[in-house]
This record gives sequence, structure tokens and C-alpha cells, in this order.
Amino acid sequence: MRILGIPGSLRKASLNRAALRAAQELVPAGVTLEIADLDGIPPYSEDIERPLPAPVAALKATIRESDAILIATPEYNYSVPGVLKNAIDWASRPYGDSAWAGKPVALMGASPGMMGTARAQYHLRQTLLSLDMHPLNHPEVMLARAGQRFDEHGRLVDEASRALIARLLEALVAWTRRLGTP
Ligand code: FNR
Repeated sequence: MRILGIPGSLRKASLNRAALRAAQELVPAGVTLEIADLDGIPPYSEDIERPLPAPVAALKATIRESDAILIATPEYNYSVPGVLKNAIDWASRPYGDSAWAGKPVALMGASPGMMGTARAQYHLRQTLLSLDMHPLNHPEVMLARAGQRFDEHGRLVDEASRALIARLLEALVAWTRRLGTP
């Protein structure tokens, strides 16, 4: 089974990309987790949809080759960062050719704040409905005060967070098997 991890941040020291790196270490046997790169995806405009920009075509191909999606979103102003929403919008286009439809998806997020990206994740769930994806409900992974959970090299060292991400991955794998490959 192939999971595609999507970090909603371009930042090199992104806590959310670091959380996906931890998830790579925690996947169940027989499962791989590749981390997508949103660098180079232009701001969406219908004027440049045909042909799709190369980074968008590559992202769509990777989504289609994956059995499930794991999005690690930061929270920006109580919602989803523009770079993540932009990539989501791109991969849903052109109309009728979305790469997302029917895909199982799980969410997590890390923030230095107290809410651990809760507000962004609930906004994101609304978008997943529009995309006709199949979001996993539980467990919810909202890593609050995340600066304390990673070491100076960006390794997730907090054992409770690692255990929670491992549970999320197990649940996503079971959910994906239950749905069958789209
Ligand atoms: C933030 N941050 C933030 N944090 C939060 O918990 N709630 C919020 O509403 C916001 N709003 C916000 C807006 C903008 C424009 C920025 C740049 C940042 C802080 C944010 O959680 C923090 O920068 C994270 O480290 C971003 O995630 P990555 O890049 O580390 O993955």
C-alpha cells in the first residue's frame, strides 16, 4: 500500500513536514509513505490549465498512484495555508479530471499554538467533502505546542505524539482496505 504525505508548508524547517518524516518511520509493515513537494506549483489560474504546469501534472500522477493520502497541515489565521489550498485546487482541475475523488485521506497538523491546527483541520474537512474524498474521522492528530515535541534536528521525539501518529497510520490503512482501492 502506498500513502502519499502532503505537507502544507514550503518551509525547510516545517514542523508539519517533520511530522510526515516521523510518519515515514512509523508506517505498518508493507506500507510506504512518500512525501510530496509543493515547491514550484504556481498560483492557480484557469488561464494556465491546459496544458497543466509540469509540477501540477507530476503531483496529480503521484496522487493517482497512491492508495491513500495523509495531509499534514499548518494552521494559518485559523485556516489552511494558501499553498496547500492552492495545490488541492490544482489537483482537482481541469473540471471532471480531479485526482482526489474517492481517495481515502487522513489529517494531522502541528502548531506551536495551543489548538494544534484544530481549526485548520476542520476547514480542510469541508474541502474534502467537495473533493469527494473519504476522510478518516479518528484518531485526530493535533500536535499543540509542537516546538516542544521536536528536537533541534526536526525529529519528533515526543513518544505520545509518535504513538498517536502510529495509531493514525494503522487506522488509515484499515480504512483504505475497507474502502478498497479507488
Ligand atoms: C501562523 N501560525 C499560526 N498558528 C496557529 O496555531 N494558529 C494560527 O491561526 C496561526 N496563524 C498563522 C498565520 C501565518 C500567516 C503564519 C505564517 C503562521 C503559526 C504557525 O502555526 C507556525 O508558523 C507553524 O510552524 C507553521 O507550520 P510549519 O511551517 O512549521 O509546518
